[in-house]
Amino acid sequence: MVRKMMIAGNWKMNGLSADGMVLAKEVAASVKAKKRICEFVVCPPFTILAVVKKALRGAKVALGAQDCHFDEKGAHTGDISPLMLTDVGCSYVILGHSERRADHGESDELICRKAEAAHKAGLKTIICIGETLAQREKGETIDVCSKQILGSVPVSATAADTVIAYEPVWAIGTGKTPTAQDVEDVHASVRKVLAKKLGKGQANKMRILYGGSVKPANAKELLSLPDVDGALVGGASLKAVDFMAIADNAGC
Ligand code: PGA
Repeated sequence: MVRKMMIAGNWKMNGLSADGMVLAKEVAASVKAKKRICEFVVCPPFTILAVVKKALRGAKVALGAQDCHFDEKGAHTGDISPLMLTDVGCSYVILGHSERRADHGESDELICRKAEAAHKAGLKTIICIGETLAQREKGETIDVCSKQILGSVPVSATAADTVIAYEPVWAIGTGKTPTAQDVEDVHASVRKVLAKKLGKGQANKMRILYGGSVKPANAKELLSLPDVDGALVGGASLKAVDFMAIADNAGC
């Protein structure tokens, strides 16, 4: 089964117009400079989506947002709808990142509802799951991830509109990563749960990214695992050289 590798950058709450434009232009130039076999996505904050879209012109780099509401429009002060994201040029949206689950109390049910709305608007979703350190220490990793998959991935999801990102909460921004064997075990079990929920055909085609302290030095080991189909990169996506070195080291 050939799944196209994906390297996605989650810029989080970083980037003003000027530096966002420079970063996007550097990524675009680097992607254009070499024949690449993987798919690239950058997910800047809402406020610079339009600026980054312009800077990416002509490069095969997709634009993604970091969240959306489940409604098309209406009385939701401060929220952004899936249609607004397609309007500004996004083709992807990250949903259910652990920082949103923790900071905004997002539940699996809410994430599922957002994903259905995003798909309806024509967006592809990157749905995040992952255990906390306490859950890992109690041996609950597989159970937690399975429950998150079952609750937050719509039954209508397909490999064409959905990407999963496994991001252990304790590995995000800490420089710590699980062992390669641990990552492969979780990804393989996630694929099994996806097969139960969506059927084997979709599960085998669906990409499962790893995220959490991915950097150029560990990219090769983590991204060559059989069930790892790319990376969701936070901190290291803020420097074009590091972001592109991750792709290079992963053979992308
Ligand atoms: P990190 O973040 O690469 O900085 O650990 C990953 C993420 O939260 O998506």
